[in-house]
Amino acid sequence: MDTTGKVIKCKAAVAWEPNTPLVIEEIEVAPPQVHEVRIKIVATAVCHTDLYHLYEGMHKDGFPVVLGHEAAGIVESVGAEVTEFRPGDKVIPVFLSQCRECRFCKSPKTNQCVKAWSEMRMEVMCPVDSGFSCKGKKILKFGGLGTFTEYTVVRQINLAKIHPDAPLDKVCLIGCGICTGYGSAVNTAKVEEGSTCAVFGLGAVGLAAVMGCKAAGAKRIIAVDTNPEKFEKAKIIGATDFVNPTDHSKPIHEVLQEMTDGGVDFSIECVGSASVMQSALHSTIKAWGVSVIVGYTLVQNITVQPVDLISGRTWRGALFGGFKGKDGVMEMVKCYMEKKMMVDEFITHNMDLDNVMEAVELMKKSKCVRAVLKTSPQ
Ligand code: APR
Ligand code: ZN
Ligand code: ZN
Repeated sequence: MDTTGKVIKCKAAVAWEPNTPLVIEEIEVAPPQVHEVRIKIVATAVCHTDLYHLYEGMHKDGFPVVLGHEAAGIVESVGAEVTEFRPGDKVIPVFLSQCRECRFCKSPKTNQCVKAWSEMRMEVMCPVDSGFSCKGKKILKFGGLGTFTEYTVVRQINLAKIHPDAPLDKVCLIGCGICTGYGSAVNTAKVEEGSTCAVFGLGAVGLAAVMGCKAAGAKRIIAVDTNPEKFEKAKIIGATDFVNPTDHSKPIHEVLQEMTDGGVDFSIECVGSASVMQSALHSTIKAWGVSVIVGYTLVQNITVQPVDLISGRTWRGALFGGFKGKDGVMEMVKCYMEKKMMVDEFITHNMDLDNVMEAVELMKKSKCVRAVLKTSPQ
């Protein structure tokens, strides 16, 4: 049946309120408006930031919402003035837009885009007008994407066209976690060949950072996590040393300084905790250490003594691993297709959209790296 121009009724997981389980509902998805594309989501994964919004999001007006922002799918129909996409194209939505026209998009120094937040409220990461409704209520789309659904509508500046042979149930991870971690090592830290690195937190983001450090030629990659079950995977991805902060009575930065004759060259924080961000900074060598903040928190502040930076360290942060939205996704899918990068290794669970709460619980308990939810057959 041709659905072009019509409202689609489909299944989606709706978060009606903070701190309450998602509910599988039938929602209505409006046809794509000007510059928008409607896509059939084939696979989507649960990322830590979805949980953060559900359980720790401070802005109660950011509900009801369809969560999910790590996904891959197929174009169903396109709105007016969309020339880059056609029905049938394989695509990955990306929360960070790339309009190619703004001051930031034109600069090679950043991956920010003026259009990324101008139409969204940063605090809830949702555009105000979503095109989703359920039981007569307007439903927001997390990150402007809302992918825990069979269909969604996204702006064309938030969509990357990918190789027609790309397996959607694998490359969906490239839409957030893999680019975020990998890019934080290669683009933001600019890890150098022969260097020593430390990665704090070994979820999907941290594991991807380990993979980025390895790709950049690091000779030693120290994986740090309070959960020792995470070390096995980190080893497969390329970590060389493993440290559990709870095994030591000393502060973790002192342990790393001792292991590395004064500190690591690069450290990457992939936890989302202010105290870990500070430890990661102090773990770097004082003369030239670079520390990158990747983890996300809205509720904590970081502090630093000026001397920690005066002595020569650099403290940086990056969104989406410094990759420009569309270009980064396309480049990384190409890398995967050429077998230059791992993705399959990050998938610990395969489920259906109906089991989304099971996947959320696994993530919450840190029992999975990524759970991929299939929404419809590819
Ligand atoms: N020190 C080291 N590791 C820790 C600590 C700590 N104090 N506390 C928690 N961890 C580990 C957890 O054991 C877990 O393995 O950090 C890891 C976090 O992984 P996930 O929860 O799976 O999160 P992930 O999806 O990888 O995202 C990490 O990056 O993009 C951001 O919003 C995201 O803040 C989140 C972070
Ligand atoms: Zn732009
Ligand atoms: Zn994410």
